[in-house]
Amino acid sequence: MKCKKCGQKAVIDLRQHNIAYCQEHYLEWVLNQTERVIEKYDMFTKDERLLVAVSGGKDSLAMWDVLWQLGYNVDGLYLDLGINDQDPYSENSRQFCQQFAAARQLQLKIIDIRAKYGETVPEMASRTKRGHTKPCSQCGLVKRYLLNKEALDGGYDAILTAHNLDDEAAFLFANVTHWSLDYLGRQYPLLPATTGFARKAKPFCRFYERETATYAILRGIQYVYTECPYAVGSKQMRNKRYLNLMEDEQPGFKTQFYLGYLRALKKGAFPHHQEKAEDLELKRCTNCGQPTRSNGVCTFCRLVEDA
Ligand code: FES
Ligand code: ZN
Ligand code: ZN
Repeated sequence: MKCKKCGQKAVIDLRQHNIAYCQEHYLEWVLNQTERVIEKYDMFTKDERLLVAVSGGKDSLAMWDVLWQLGYNVDGLYLDLGINDQDPYSENSRQFCQQFAAARQLQLKIIDIRAKYGETVPEMASRTKRGHTKPCSQCGLVKRYLLNKEALDGGYDAILTAHNLDDEAAFLFANVTHWSLDYLGRQYPLLPATTGFARKAKPFCRFYERETATYAILRGIQYVYTECPYAVGSKQMRNKRYLNLMEDEQPGFKTQFYLGYLRALKKGAFPHHQEKAEDLELKRCTNCGQPTRSNGVCTFCRLVEDA
């Protein structure tokens, strides 16, 4: 396997593109591809202030590194969820984020959920009907709420998450199998800001998981290898396995699946679910002032107020 550009020994074979690259040219390719995606979807510019959600895993740290190298003005946000019961998952993740930021002199904001709200996310979730066996859905709610709040309060132009192609394809697969039209209409690499909601972008949505892992390793980025212990056995993981079987037989399957969906979305195949600004304006949480679909207190405030 030889590098397409220089003929030296390749370190990665991109089967879906039918090309291979050496270390130097692979790293260059990742930067170029990211820039292309940012431009294609008109995500953000170098003059804007960006906030990247970092988990301590390969995708988010690799993405922060790429954006930093490309010259974007990007700070990090780590939400310490307090998942340390089986192994010190949150503790380790936090340390990797801190080491990463310190080495590059980047700004990292940490929100310790237990210190701020009195309970860890698994503790909060254990009091709810949906979350008492697995905290994942409540955890998703906490993350979405806090990312948005921190982006707005900090005056950031956009919040970035490091969802990769495997994540997007698995989410899409779940939504297609359930025909969840609402979600199908909203899954897009860029969600513009609306009243009370920050702009959200996914600049890594075209990279396979193995590509971001290779990038992180080649760049010497230290990251947490383990998944969240609660993600083990989840539907998302199962869907990723199914899609990997398809990809093995047909290299490029996941890319085609995802890009085909984006084309269909653009043609109006799914109702574009845009919340009306006025509706959100009318409904504000009586406790925190954030937009909410329910009347009175929002779901996040309801979750934490019993703490
Ligand atoms: Fe939230 Fe696993 S990361 S439950
Ligand atoms: Zn090369
Ligand atoms: Zn609220």
